[in-house]
Amino acid sequence: MKVKDTLILKVTDKLDKSDIENLTVAADILRRGGLVAFPTETVYGLGANALDKDAVNSIFEAKGRPQDNPLIVHVSDKEDIDKYADTKNPLFLPLKEQMPSPLTVILPKKDIIPSVVTAGLDSVAMRVPESVIARKLIELSGVPVAAPSANLSGKPSPTTAQHVISDMEGKVDCIIDAGVCSVGVESTVISLCESVPTLFRPGGFTLEMLQNLIGKVKVSDAVLSSLKSGSKVQSPGMKYKHYAPSKPVCLLKGDSEKIRAFLKQKYDTEKCAIICYDEDFDLSSDRVLLMGKRNSSKEYATRLFDALRKTDLINNTDCVYAVLPDDTSGISLAIYNRMLRAAAFNVREL
Ligand code: TXA
Ligand code: MG
Repeated sequence: MKVKDTLILKVTDKLDKSDIENLTVAADILRRGGLVAFPTETVYGLGANALDKDAVNSIFEAKGRPQDNPLIVHVSDKEDIDKYADTKNPLFLPLKEQMPSPLTVILPKKDIIPSVVTAGLDSVAMRVPESVIARKLIELSGVPVAAPSANLSGKPSPTTAQHVISDMEGKVDCIIDAGVCSVGVESTVISLCESVPTLFRPGGFTLEMLQNLIGKVKVSDAVLSSLKSGSKVQSPGMKYKHYAPSKPVCLLKGDSEKIRAFLKQKYDTEKCAIICYDEDFDLSSDRVLLMGKRNSSKEYATRLFDALRKTDLINNTDCVYAVLPDDTSGISLAIYNRMLRAAAFNVREL
């Protein structure tokens, strides 16, 4: 592929005069069919005008993404969802009231959305990001923005502009640098196109929040287990290998004292990297990535993809041990979902 000159623009969420100037430049690139990587509260996205087939095709090319994996359409105003999707389902209303948020809702698609966006499906994933920078960019562009995460396909999603630059420089027209994403895992994906609302991907908008708003929510089998070969795939993204560092990952759960002792022993005797809570390890070292306090997994989520990328960069290690949260409540369900895939479902109970 031809190497592009990638414009890198710094923007802050103050949205002052120079921020707006930079976002206007990026919005013009989007409108003219270019590719712009931009921050959201979850992860960085790789955006193109969702109504321009050629622009959308170039997203797949830049990422090396399989063509059968559909994209999320981002809009700046929730009232715009109606233009692109059928919003008649009464369960949509309570979800819409919570937008903007790290939540993506799958609805029946309207014809105006090109089939390349939805990989030929008759549904479309719609999201209004909470990030004021993302929404201002979309608003200034005047078009809906199709955007997957801005990583090379198969790599962890980018949560800093540096991650995007290392994956995408030379492949896209513009990268907006706004520092670290606050949520750190991709948006929650719920489908209203199944007989019962179904959670396809857990994220910062938790399952408990969804249940409070709309009652029964089915959790897709693929959230916490690997897909059996030949089983029906509800969301194409579930079937692809994701987030796998180059070294084998072993997940740990169980008694916290046993985990401490296990990690200390492995650290002393093996060339391993460690991902754990602050309480799990006394020493700070370049092989030990601390993920915040055990009683709040929010920080773990924010740092998760950065930690996975870092394990690839630590020299002279040949495996990774990573501690799982105590249970799957709240944001921890998203951590389990991502880490189980990173570890190819290799879990050790202590
Ligand atoms: O937080 C996020 O959602 C980020 C930011 C940029 O908004 N985007 C993101 O996009 O994570 P992506 O493409 O990496 O993940 C979208 C997921 C994929 O697993 C895809 O298969 C699924 O949503 N998806 C999209 N449209 C769908 C549809 N119509 N039916 C079922 N699954 C769909
Ligand atoms: Mg992705």
